[in-house]
Amino acid sequence: MVPAAHKQQVKPRVYVSRRFHFSAAHRIYNPAWSDAENARVFGPCSHPAGHGHNYELEVVIAGSPHPDTGYVMDIALLKKLVEENVLSQLDHRNLNTDVPFLADQIPTSENLIVSLWREIQRLLPSEVQLVELRLWETPRNCFIYHGETY
Ligand code: NI
Repeated sequence: MVPAAHKQQVKPRVYVSRRFHFSAAHRIYNPAWSDAENARVFGPCSHPAGHGHNYELEVVIAGSPHPDTGYVMDIALLKKLVEENVLSQLDHRNLNTDVPFLADQIPTSENLIVSLWREIQRLLPSEVQLVELRLWETPRNCFIYHGETY
């Protein structure tokens, strides 16, 4: 017979993922460099008029199912929080000029995903952990972040 106090110490850790979509424009360039240098390093990504992407963003959280609901987190709430607070700032916007949390950054997907981590993490309830973001810039190019730093 296992004492009840011991049983309660073991809780399953469950991962929950939600996929989001947004469309945005950007131009990849370093303002400290000449147009020629930008063209050499970034190629067509630095064309002055910019270009667009249909981004897919996968948000992976983890936690233990709550005894009252069986949910790690209500996915409808996750959807609402991310869409209303973060994606509303990105969708159909210019990432170079329109998004306060991307100011002064080269809007690559690498920089975008780090900013998305910070913006999404602060929205989550304390008992839920953000464990992974996957940002698809094209169907073939995916960027992954776990909140790690050097
Ligand atoms: Ni691009």
